[in-house]
Amino acid sequence: MRKAALPDDRYPAVSDLRKRAYKRMPFFAWEYLDSGTGEEAAMHRNTDALGRITIMPHFMKGMIEPDISTELFGKTFSAPIGIAPIGYTSLMWPGGEQILAKTAKEKNIVHCLSTMAADTMENCGPISGDNGWFQLYPPKDPKIREDMIKRAKDSGYHTLVVTCDVPAPSMRERQRRAGISIPPKMTPTILYRVLKRPEWALRTLKRGRPTFANMVKYVGNGDGMNFNNIVDFVGSEMGACLDWDYLKEVRKLWDGPLVLKGVLSVEDAMQAVKIGCDGVWVSNHGGRQFEAAPAAIDTLADIKKAVGNKAKIIFCSGVRNANDILRAIALGADFVFMGRPFIYGIGALAEKGGDHVSDLLQADLINNMHQLGIETLEDVRKREVRVDNQVVALPK
Ligand SMILES: Cc1cc2nc3c(=O)[nH]c(=O)nc-3n(C[C@H](O)[C@H](O)[C@H](O)COP(=O)(O)O)c2cc1C
Repeated sequence: MRKAALPDDRYPAVSDLRKRAYKRMPFFAWEYLDSGTGEEAAMHRNTDALGRITIMPHFMKGMIEPDISTELFGKTFSAPIGIAPIGYTSLMWPGGEQILAKTAKEKNIVHCLSTMAADTMENCGPISGDNGWFQLYPPKDPKIREDMIKRAKDSGYHTLVVTCDVPAPSMRERQRRAGISIPPKMTPTILYRVLKRPEWALRTLKRGRPTFANMVKYVGNGDGMNFNNIVDFVGSEMGACLDWDYLKEVRKLWDGPLVLKGVLSVEDAMQAVKIGCDGVWVSNHGGRQFEAAPAAIDTLADIKKAVGNKAKIIFCSGVRNANDILRAIALGADFVFMGRPFIYGIGALAEKGGDHVSDLLQADLINNMHQLGIETLEDVRKREVRVDNQVVALPK
């Protein structure tokens, strides 16, 4: 039997990419990426809770051929893998939005571009094509909302994701300690940190200072020259207005698949389904918003039981390898996204980083299906799953 082939054996796990990315990003960008909120209990709870789940392997299956292709919203993907929306990606690695959009197209997975990206939907949408989703933070002004949704459609985005778990900015203590400010202030410490990362510095110099590119059009004379104005605009215009009526309006404006992201309760999931969402995205924002939030994985099975087949269940928060993907699928997910792992990838390996993460997750997934003795992803739901060694009833 042959060993699973990886694109580069020096980085066989996301943790290897994380270590290398740390050495290549300026400290403030690293802290923006790698941190949670408060004492970071929610962030650690995500990974700890996933690690407590075991899946029983069955052996003596002879030759098996695992198939990881996955159908979602009328499209067949190579694997149930998506790149979660990450605001300001180019702060962490210059040009990151386009690198990841390209990975999505080439590897046939999903890239979800954030409203707060440092590159526009017009630039990134055509690169990801129908592998691209657009994530909307709710603008207060209905005209801007309508315009952003139209721009997403015109840029070729297939699915619209509305994020509901940022009702207010979170404390993000680690980011404050690292001196992160928007707009960025060039203090001697920040300058020193930039100079210690010459490749990042040169690429940023070439690309220009990252800005909230999707917002530029709505501020001042639309040339995006005044960063302070854009930041003021984002502070006053975005968020703190989302409710079920707002979601109903979005539903009317978007005729493609619609997903509500950041759901943790059965009640919110059911309401999203009632309003006509095609997908419910179970997530606690990677532990970045509310420190007392449950681990996202601990809420998944109940949500799947309640939603059944009325909508697709999407999952993220704490996923770091293919076994985590299998754990989430066992507990009810149809598709699994990752945030930080893909950014560790581009931080570590630049243009090759997104492809590398996708390749290693897909190889890891196939390998672990061999270990489990299953040929399709749904088969994982036929295995005994335990949490803290207690057998759990899997959702049907
Ligand atoms: C640096 C960073 C920026 C993020 N920006 C956004 C965003 O703009 N919109 C959004 O819906 N979620 C955002 N998220 C949350 C991710 O989409 C995703 O839910 C989270 O990263 C999943 O957890 P993981 O990093 O453990 O995979 C961000 C996460 C990180 C780490």
